[in-house]
Amino acid sequence: MPARIVIGAQYGDEGKGKIVDFFAEKAELVARFNGGNNAGHTVVVGKETFKFHLIPSGAVQGKECCICAGTAIDPAVMIEEISMIEKTGRKTKLSIDGRAQIIMPWHKQLDGASEQAKGKQKIGTTGRGIGPCYADRAARQGIRFCDFADKKRLDAKIKEIAPTKIKEIEKVYGLKSEFSVESTIKEFSKYSSELAKYLSDCSEKVNESIDAKKNVLLEGAQGTFLDNDFGTYPFVTSSHPLAGGALVGIGMGINRISYCTGVAKAYCTRVGSGPFITEIEGSLADQLRKKGAEFGTTTGRPRRIGWIDLPMLRTAHMWNNFTDLAITKLDVLSGQKEVKACISYKAGSKVFDKVPYDTEVLAKCKPEYKSFKGFELPPKISSFDDLPQEAIDFLRFVQGETSVPIKIISYGAERMQTLDLF
Ligand code: IMP
Repeated sequence: MPARIVIGAQYGDEGKGKIVDFFAEKAELVARFNGGNNAGHTVVVGKETFKFHLIPSGAVQGKECCICAGTAIDPAVMIEEISMIEKTGRKTKLSIDGRAQIIMPWHKQLDGASEQAKGKQKIGTTGRGIGPCYADRAARQGIRFCDFADKKRLDAKIKEIAPTKIKEIEKVYGLKSEFSVESTIKEFSKYSSELAKYLSDCSEKVNESIDAKKNVLLEGAQGTFLDNDFGTYPFVTSSHPLAGGALVGIGMGINRISYCTGVAKAYCTRVGSGPFITEIEGSLADQLRKKGAEFGTTTGRPRRIGWIDLPMLRTAHMWNNFTDLAITKLDVLSGQKEVKACISYKAGSKVFDKVPYDTEVLAKCKPEYKSFKGFELPPKISSFDDLPQEAIDFLRFVQGETSVPIKIISYGAERMQTLDLF
């Protein structure tokens, strides 16, 4: 079986958890390749609701899970999630790549301090230490999972790095550091004892599984427009949610992935700062936010709401080369008199059908919309033909404008509320 990758086509929170869960049924290995517990995936199975931040959603189905080299791991969160899964009687078959980065207490405090210092210009990060952790990786002063799993090496690294970080917190930001060398050694020694057994080479595992023709699923976190290079910089995360990010985030060659599923909501949301061309405010936004439960899985922040943005989806397709699209949360639009899709942007006399690279230009863009008659979804849907014609027209338009076939339509949080058009 060739590998499939699942990618967020918007600003994250597209409902990837549910789509990964859909594919995970047949998968033999699920691997995560970027980000950390800034992500939040919700999977609803019958009466059980699972909220994951780090562990791939495939864990619900008892699949072998890999946390690969491109991720950033908060050990306390990892321990909590393992225990959450095991409490339900499921077993975790987990491997963590020795190259993955560890989020340390200084990363979390520096994340908050730097946001505070930016004032109005803040990114609106999740405050989980993601940016400072990846910055240390690039500066070659990160602690990797293989260092962390060896207590002697871990202690030495903490002794080497923590004093400089304490100085930075105190002298640059004028704050009192929330940790000391001793407290960090004590806390992390405990985490190391619990997690060291998961130390592995996930690159080897994933590549060998693909060689053995196993069904491998690669799970992206965040979304295309939060990519550190290609997103709406600087309002982005610090890893690479693009499909290309999986190659370095796992350690695999360019021709290893056969299918790339782009996941997009039937509308669009964003948490944190940054341009959002199709944003809507007022009572309609409140209504959709409530109906779609659009509050961050990680931070609980209300998500910003907007119409589906086709320049974004066309651009996401150009960067990820989707083989198919999964459209999620169609039910949230049900009952509206009118539904809109942004077909292009205008800034002065310039028209854009893709997202411009300059975030300041993007911020000046105004949306040009095509309007659709609203639809009401019937209580029972068992096939595509059960959808109202107005919903079909809307979906066909999205498909035509992005040139990607829609193969999954999700119309509720439940596993069952999914149309499989493969
Ligand atoms: P960070 O990843 O915590 O540094 O946050 C950087 C930006 O990415 C902020 O705007 C966050 O709200 C956003 N972000 C990070 N992770 C997610 C996610 O999983 N879903 C949606 N937005 C996210």
